[in-house]
Order: sequence, then C-alpha cells, then structure tokens
Amino acid sequence: MIQVQELTKRYGDFEAIQGVSFSIGKGEIVGFLGPNGAGKTTTMRILSCFMPPTSGSGSIAGLDLFRNSLEVRKRIGYLPEHPPLYPEMTVRGYLFFVATIKGISKREQKAKLSKAIEQCGLVEVQDRLIGRLSKGYRQRIGIAQALIHDPEVVILDEPTIGLDPAQIIEIRRLIKSLAGERTILLSTHILPEVSMLCNRVIVINRGKILASDAYEKLTSEMDRGQRLHLKARGLDVERLRSLPGIVDVQSEDADSCLVEAEQGKEMREAVSRYVISQGWGLLELTSKSLTLEEVYLRLISESEGYSA
Ligand SMILES: Nc1ncnc2c1ncn2[C@@H]1O[C@H](COP(=O)(O)OP(=O)(O)OP(=O)(O)O)[C@@H](O)[C@H]1O
Ligand SMILES: [Mg+2]
Repeated sequence: MIQVQELTKRYGDFEAIQGVSFSIGKGEIVGFLGPNGAGKTTTMRILSCFMPPTSGSGSIAGLDLFRNSLEVRKRIGYLPEHPPLYPEMTVRGYLFFVATIKGISKREQKAKLSKAIEQCGLVEVQDRLIGRLSKGYRQRIGIAQALIHDPEVVILDEPTIGLDPAQIIEIRRLIKSLAGERTILLSTHILPEVSMLCNRVIVINRGKILASDAYEKLTSEMDRGQRLHLKARGLDVERLRSLPGIVDVQSEDADSCLVEAEQGKEMREAVSRYVISQGWGLLELTSKSLTLEEVYLRLISESEGYSA
C-alpha cells in the first residue's frame, strides 16, 4: 500500500534522510521510531506529498507520489507534527472547511463531521474558537482533520503528544479501531504505544533505516536465548557469575536472578547443569525476550558505533 525506494532529502548540504526504502502492506499498523532529528517527520512529509524528496521514488495505493500527488492526497489522512490550524475559526467551522476542501459531498458532510468530532472527543468544544483552546485539544483537531474523509492510508506524526492520559487511551483505541481496512504509519517516542498498537516497527537513525520488521521478529532475533530468568533454592549469585559464557547476573530476590549470556550464546543447558551440580533446587529457568525498549536502544547504539 505504501512503497518508497531510495528516498533522499537534502536541506542545503545536510542530508536529512539517505536511501530510505520500505514498504507497508494494506491493513498494517506500523510504528516509526527514531531519536530526535532521525528523519521521521521528513519521511512522513514526503509520503504525504507535503514536499518532494531530493531523489528517490514512492507510491501509495499504486499511485506515484509525485506524478499523481492530487490523487494520493485524497487517499491519505495526514497529521503533521505541527497541525496548521486557523485560530480565528471555530472547531466545527474549521472541520467543515476541511471537509469541503477534501471534496466530501454535501450529502455526507454533516455525518462525517459529527463522527470525527465525536471520535476525537471534541463535542464539548466544537463551537469554541481554535485559538482559545489548549494544546491537547488542538492536537485532537489535528487528528480529526486527518480522519474526516475516511482515508485508506493514515500518516500520523506523534499523534498522542500533548494529550491527557484519558484522551491518550481514547486516541489509541481510535487508531486501533481503524486497523484492518486502513493502513497506518505513526511516529512516536512512547515505545509501549508501539507494542500496544503496531504489528511492525521501522527504526530510523541519522536518516538511515536500521530495521523494518514484525515486532516479535525484532525482539526474538536480537535475543537468541541470551537472557534467562532463573529461580533456584539455595542460589549463590556470585558463584553463578563465574560460569564461563555468562556476562552478568542480577539478583532479583533470594531465590531468583536474571542471567545474561555472551552475545549469540544459548546457555539454558549449561546453566541448568551448573545449578544441579551445585546442589541448588532448580525451580524455574525461562528465556526472557528483550523488550522493545532494549531492542531499540541496542539498534541505535550499534548504529552509532558502540555496543549496547
Ligand atoms: N527545513 C529544514 N531545513 C534544514 N534542516 C532541516 C529542516 N527540516 C528538518 N531538518 C533537519 O533534518 C533532520 C531530520 O529532521 P526530522 O524533523 O525529520 O526529524 P524527526 O525524526 O522527525 O525528529 P523528532 O523526533 O525531533 O520530531 C534534523 O537534523 C533536522 O534538523
Ligand atoms: Mg518529527
């Protein structure tokens, strides 16, 4: 549904993104992750036809981003990083204006407007001036304008930033409810949000894509049975630490600990044999997969040339 090849964007001498390629299938919800300045907003602006790349190509729903940009725009809903709103308009007036320029027919306008207002928690403020509303409400208006025309593809640049906790839950629920029929790319710095919403993750740093994988694949591929949770009666953490192949042992309580093996080593058998040889009562030994946060930090630090 979304495809980009070798996108590059230069601002003067500075290359904000370099050789960015990925594809997103219909119905996927993909999380776009990366540190500040990584190139997320730049990529999303190109995808939404807000600006052209310096080089590279892309398409949405089979339509070329550059040759068919008007058609593409009809099919996407885009929440920019800083939604452009008109402070002197009322919420309802602005959304009515958006509905008109997006070509929603007169017959459908009222129903679509009311649905967007309700979905984004704007009922109480619909007649107020946008300029007088708080940041969170303006963010909600930005989301409402992105969704009002029921687009096939939704591109959301940090959708939950600035929202209160209850509204964050509402907006996440809304995004999840769009899944299936719609294709969604969203950027965020809240990693648990990605595990809650997304089936896939694209990680970018310094303008280059580091990973583009299913969430489970990313966490299990980097793990390879390296971290174990051990529970054993009579456990002596110091002695376990001396076992070859083990990098670190962190005590959790008197009977349990987290064992970290050297990269790429499968230590379950060796650890269980050692526990038994020491006469400790083995109660539990499980492989602990990495969290998205750990995977993310590892990818970023590896790309910066340090090991995590
Ligand atoms: N109009 C511009 N002119 C010059 N440099 C720019 C411009 N827009 C973005 N950049 C630079 O391009 C790089 C990528 O910026 P971008 O906004 O895409 O990052 P981001 O991943 O969205 O970051 P954040 O998480 O902070 O939103 C940054 O180094 C930024 O300073
Ligand atoms: Mg950004």
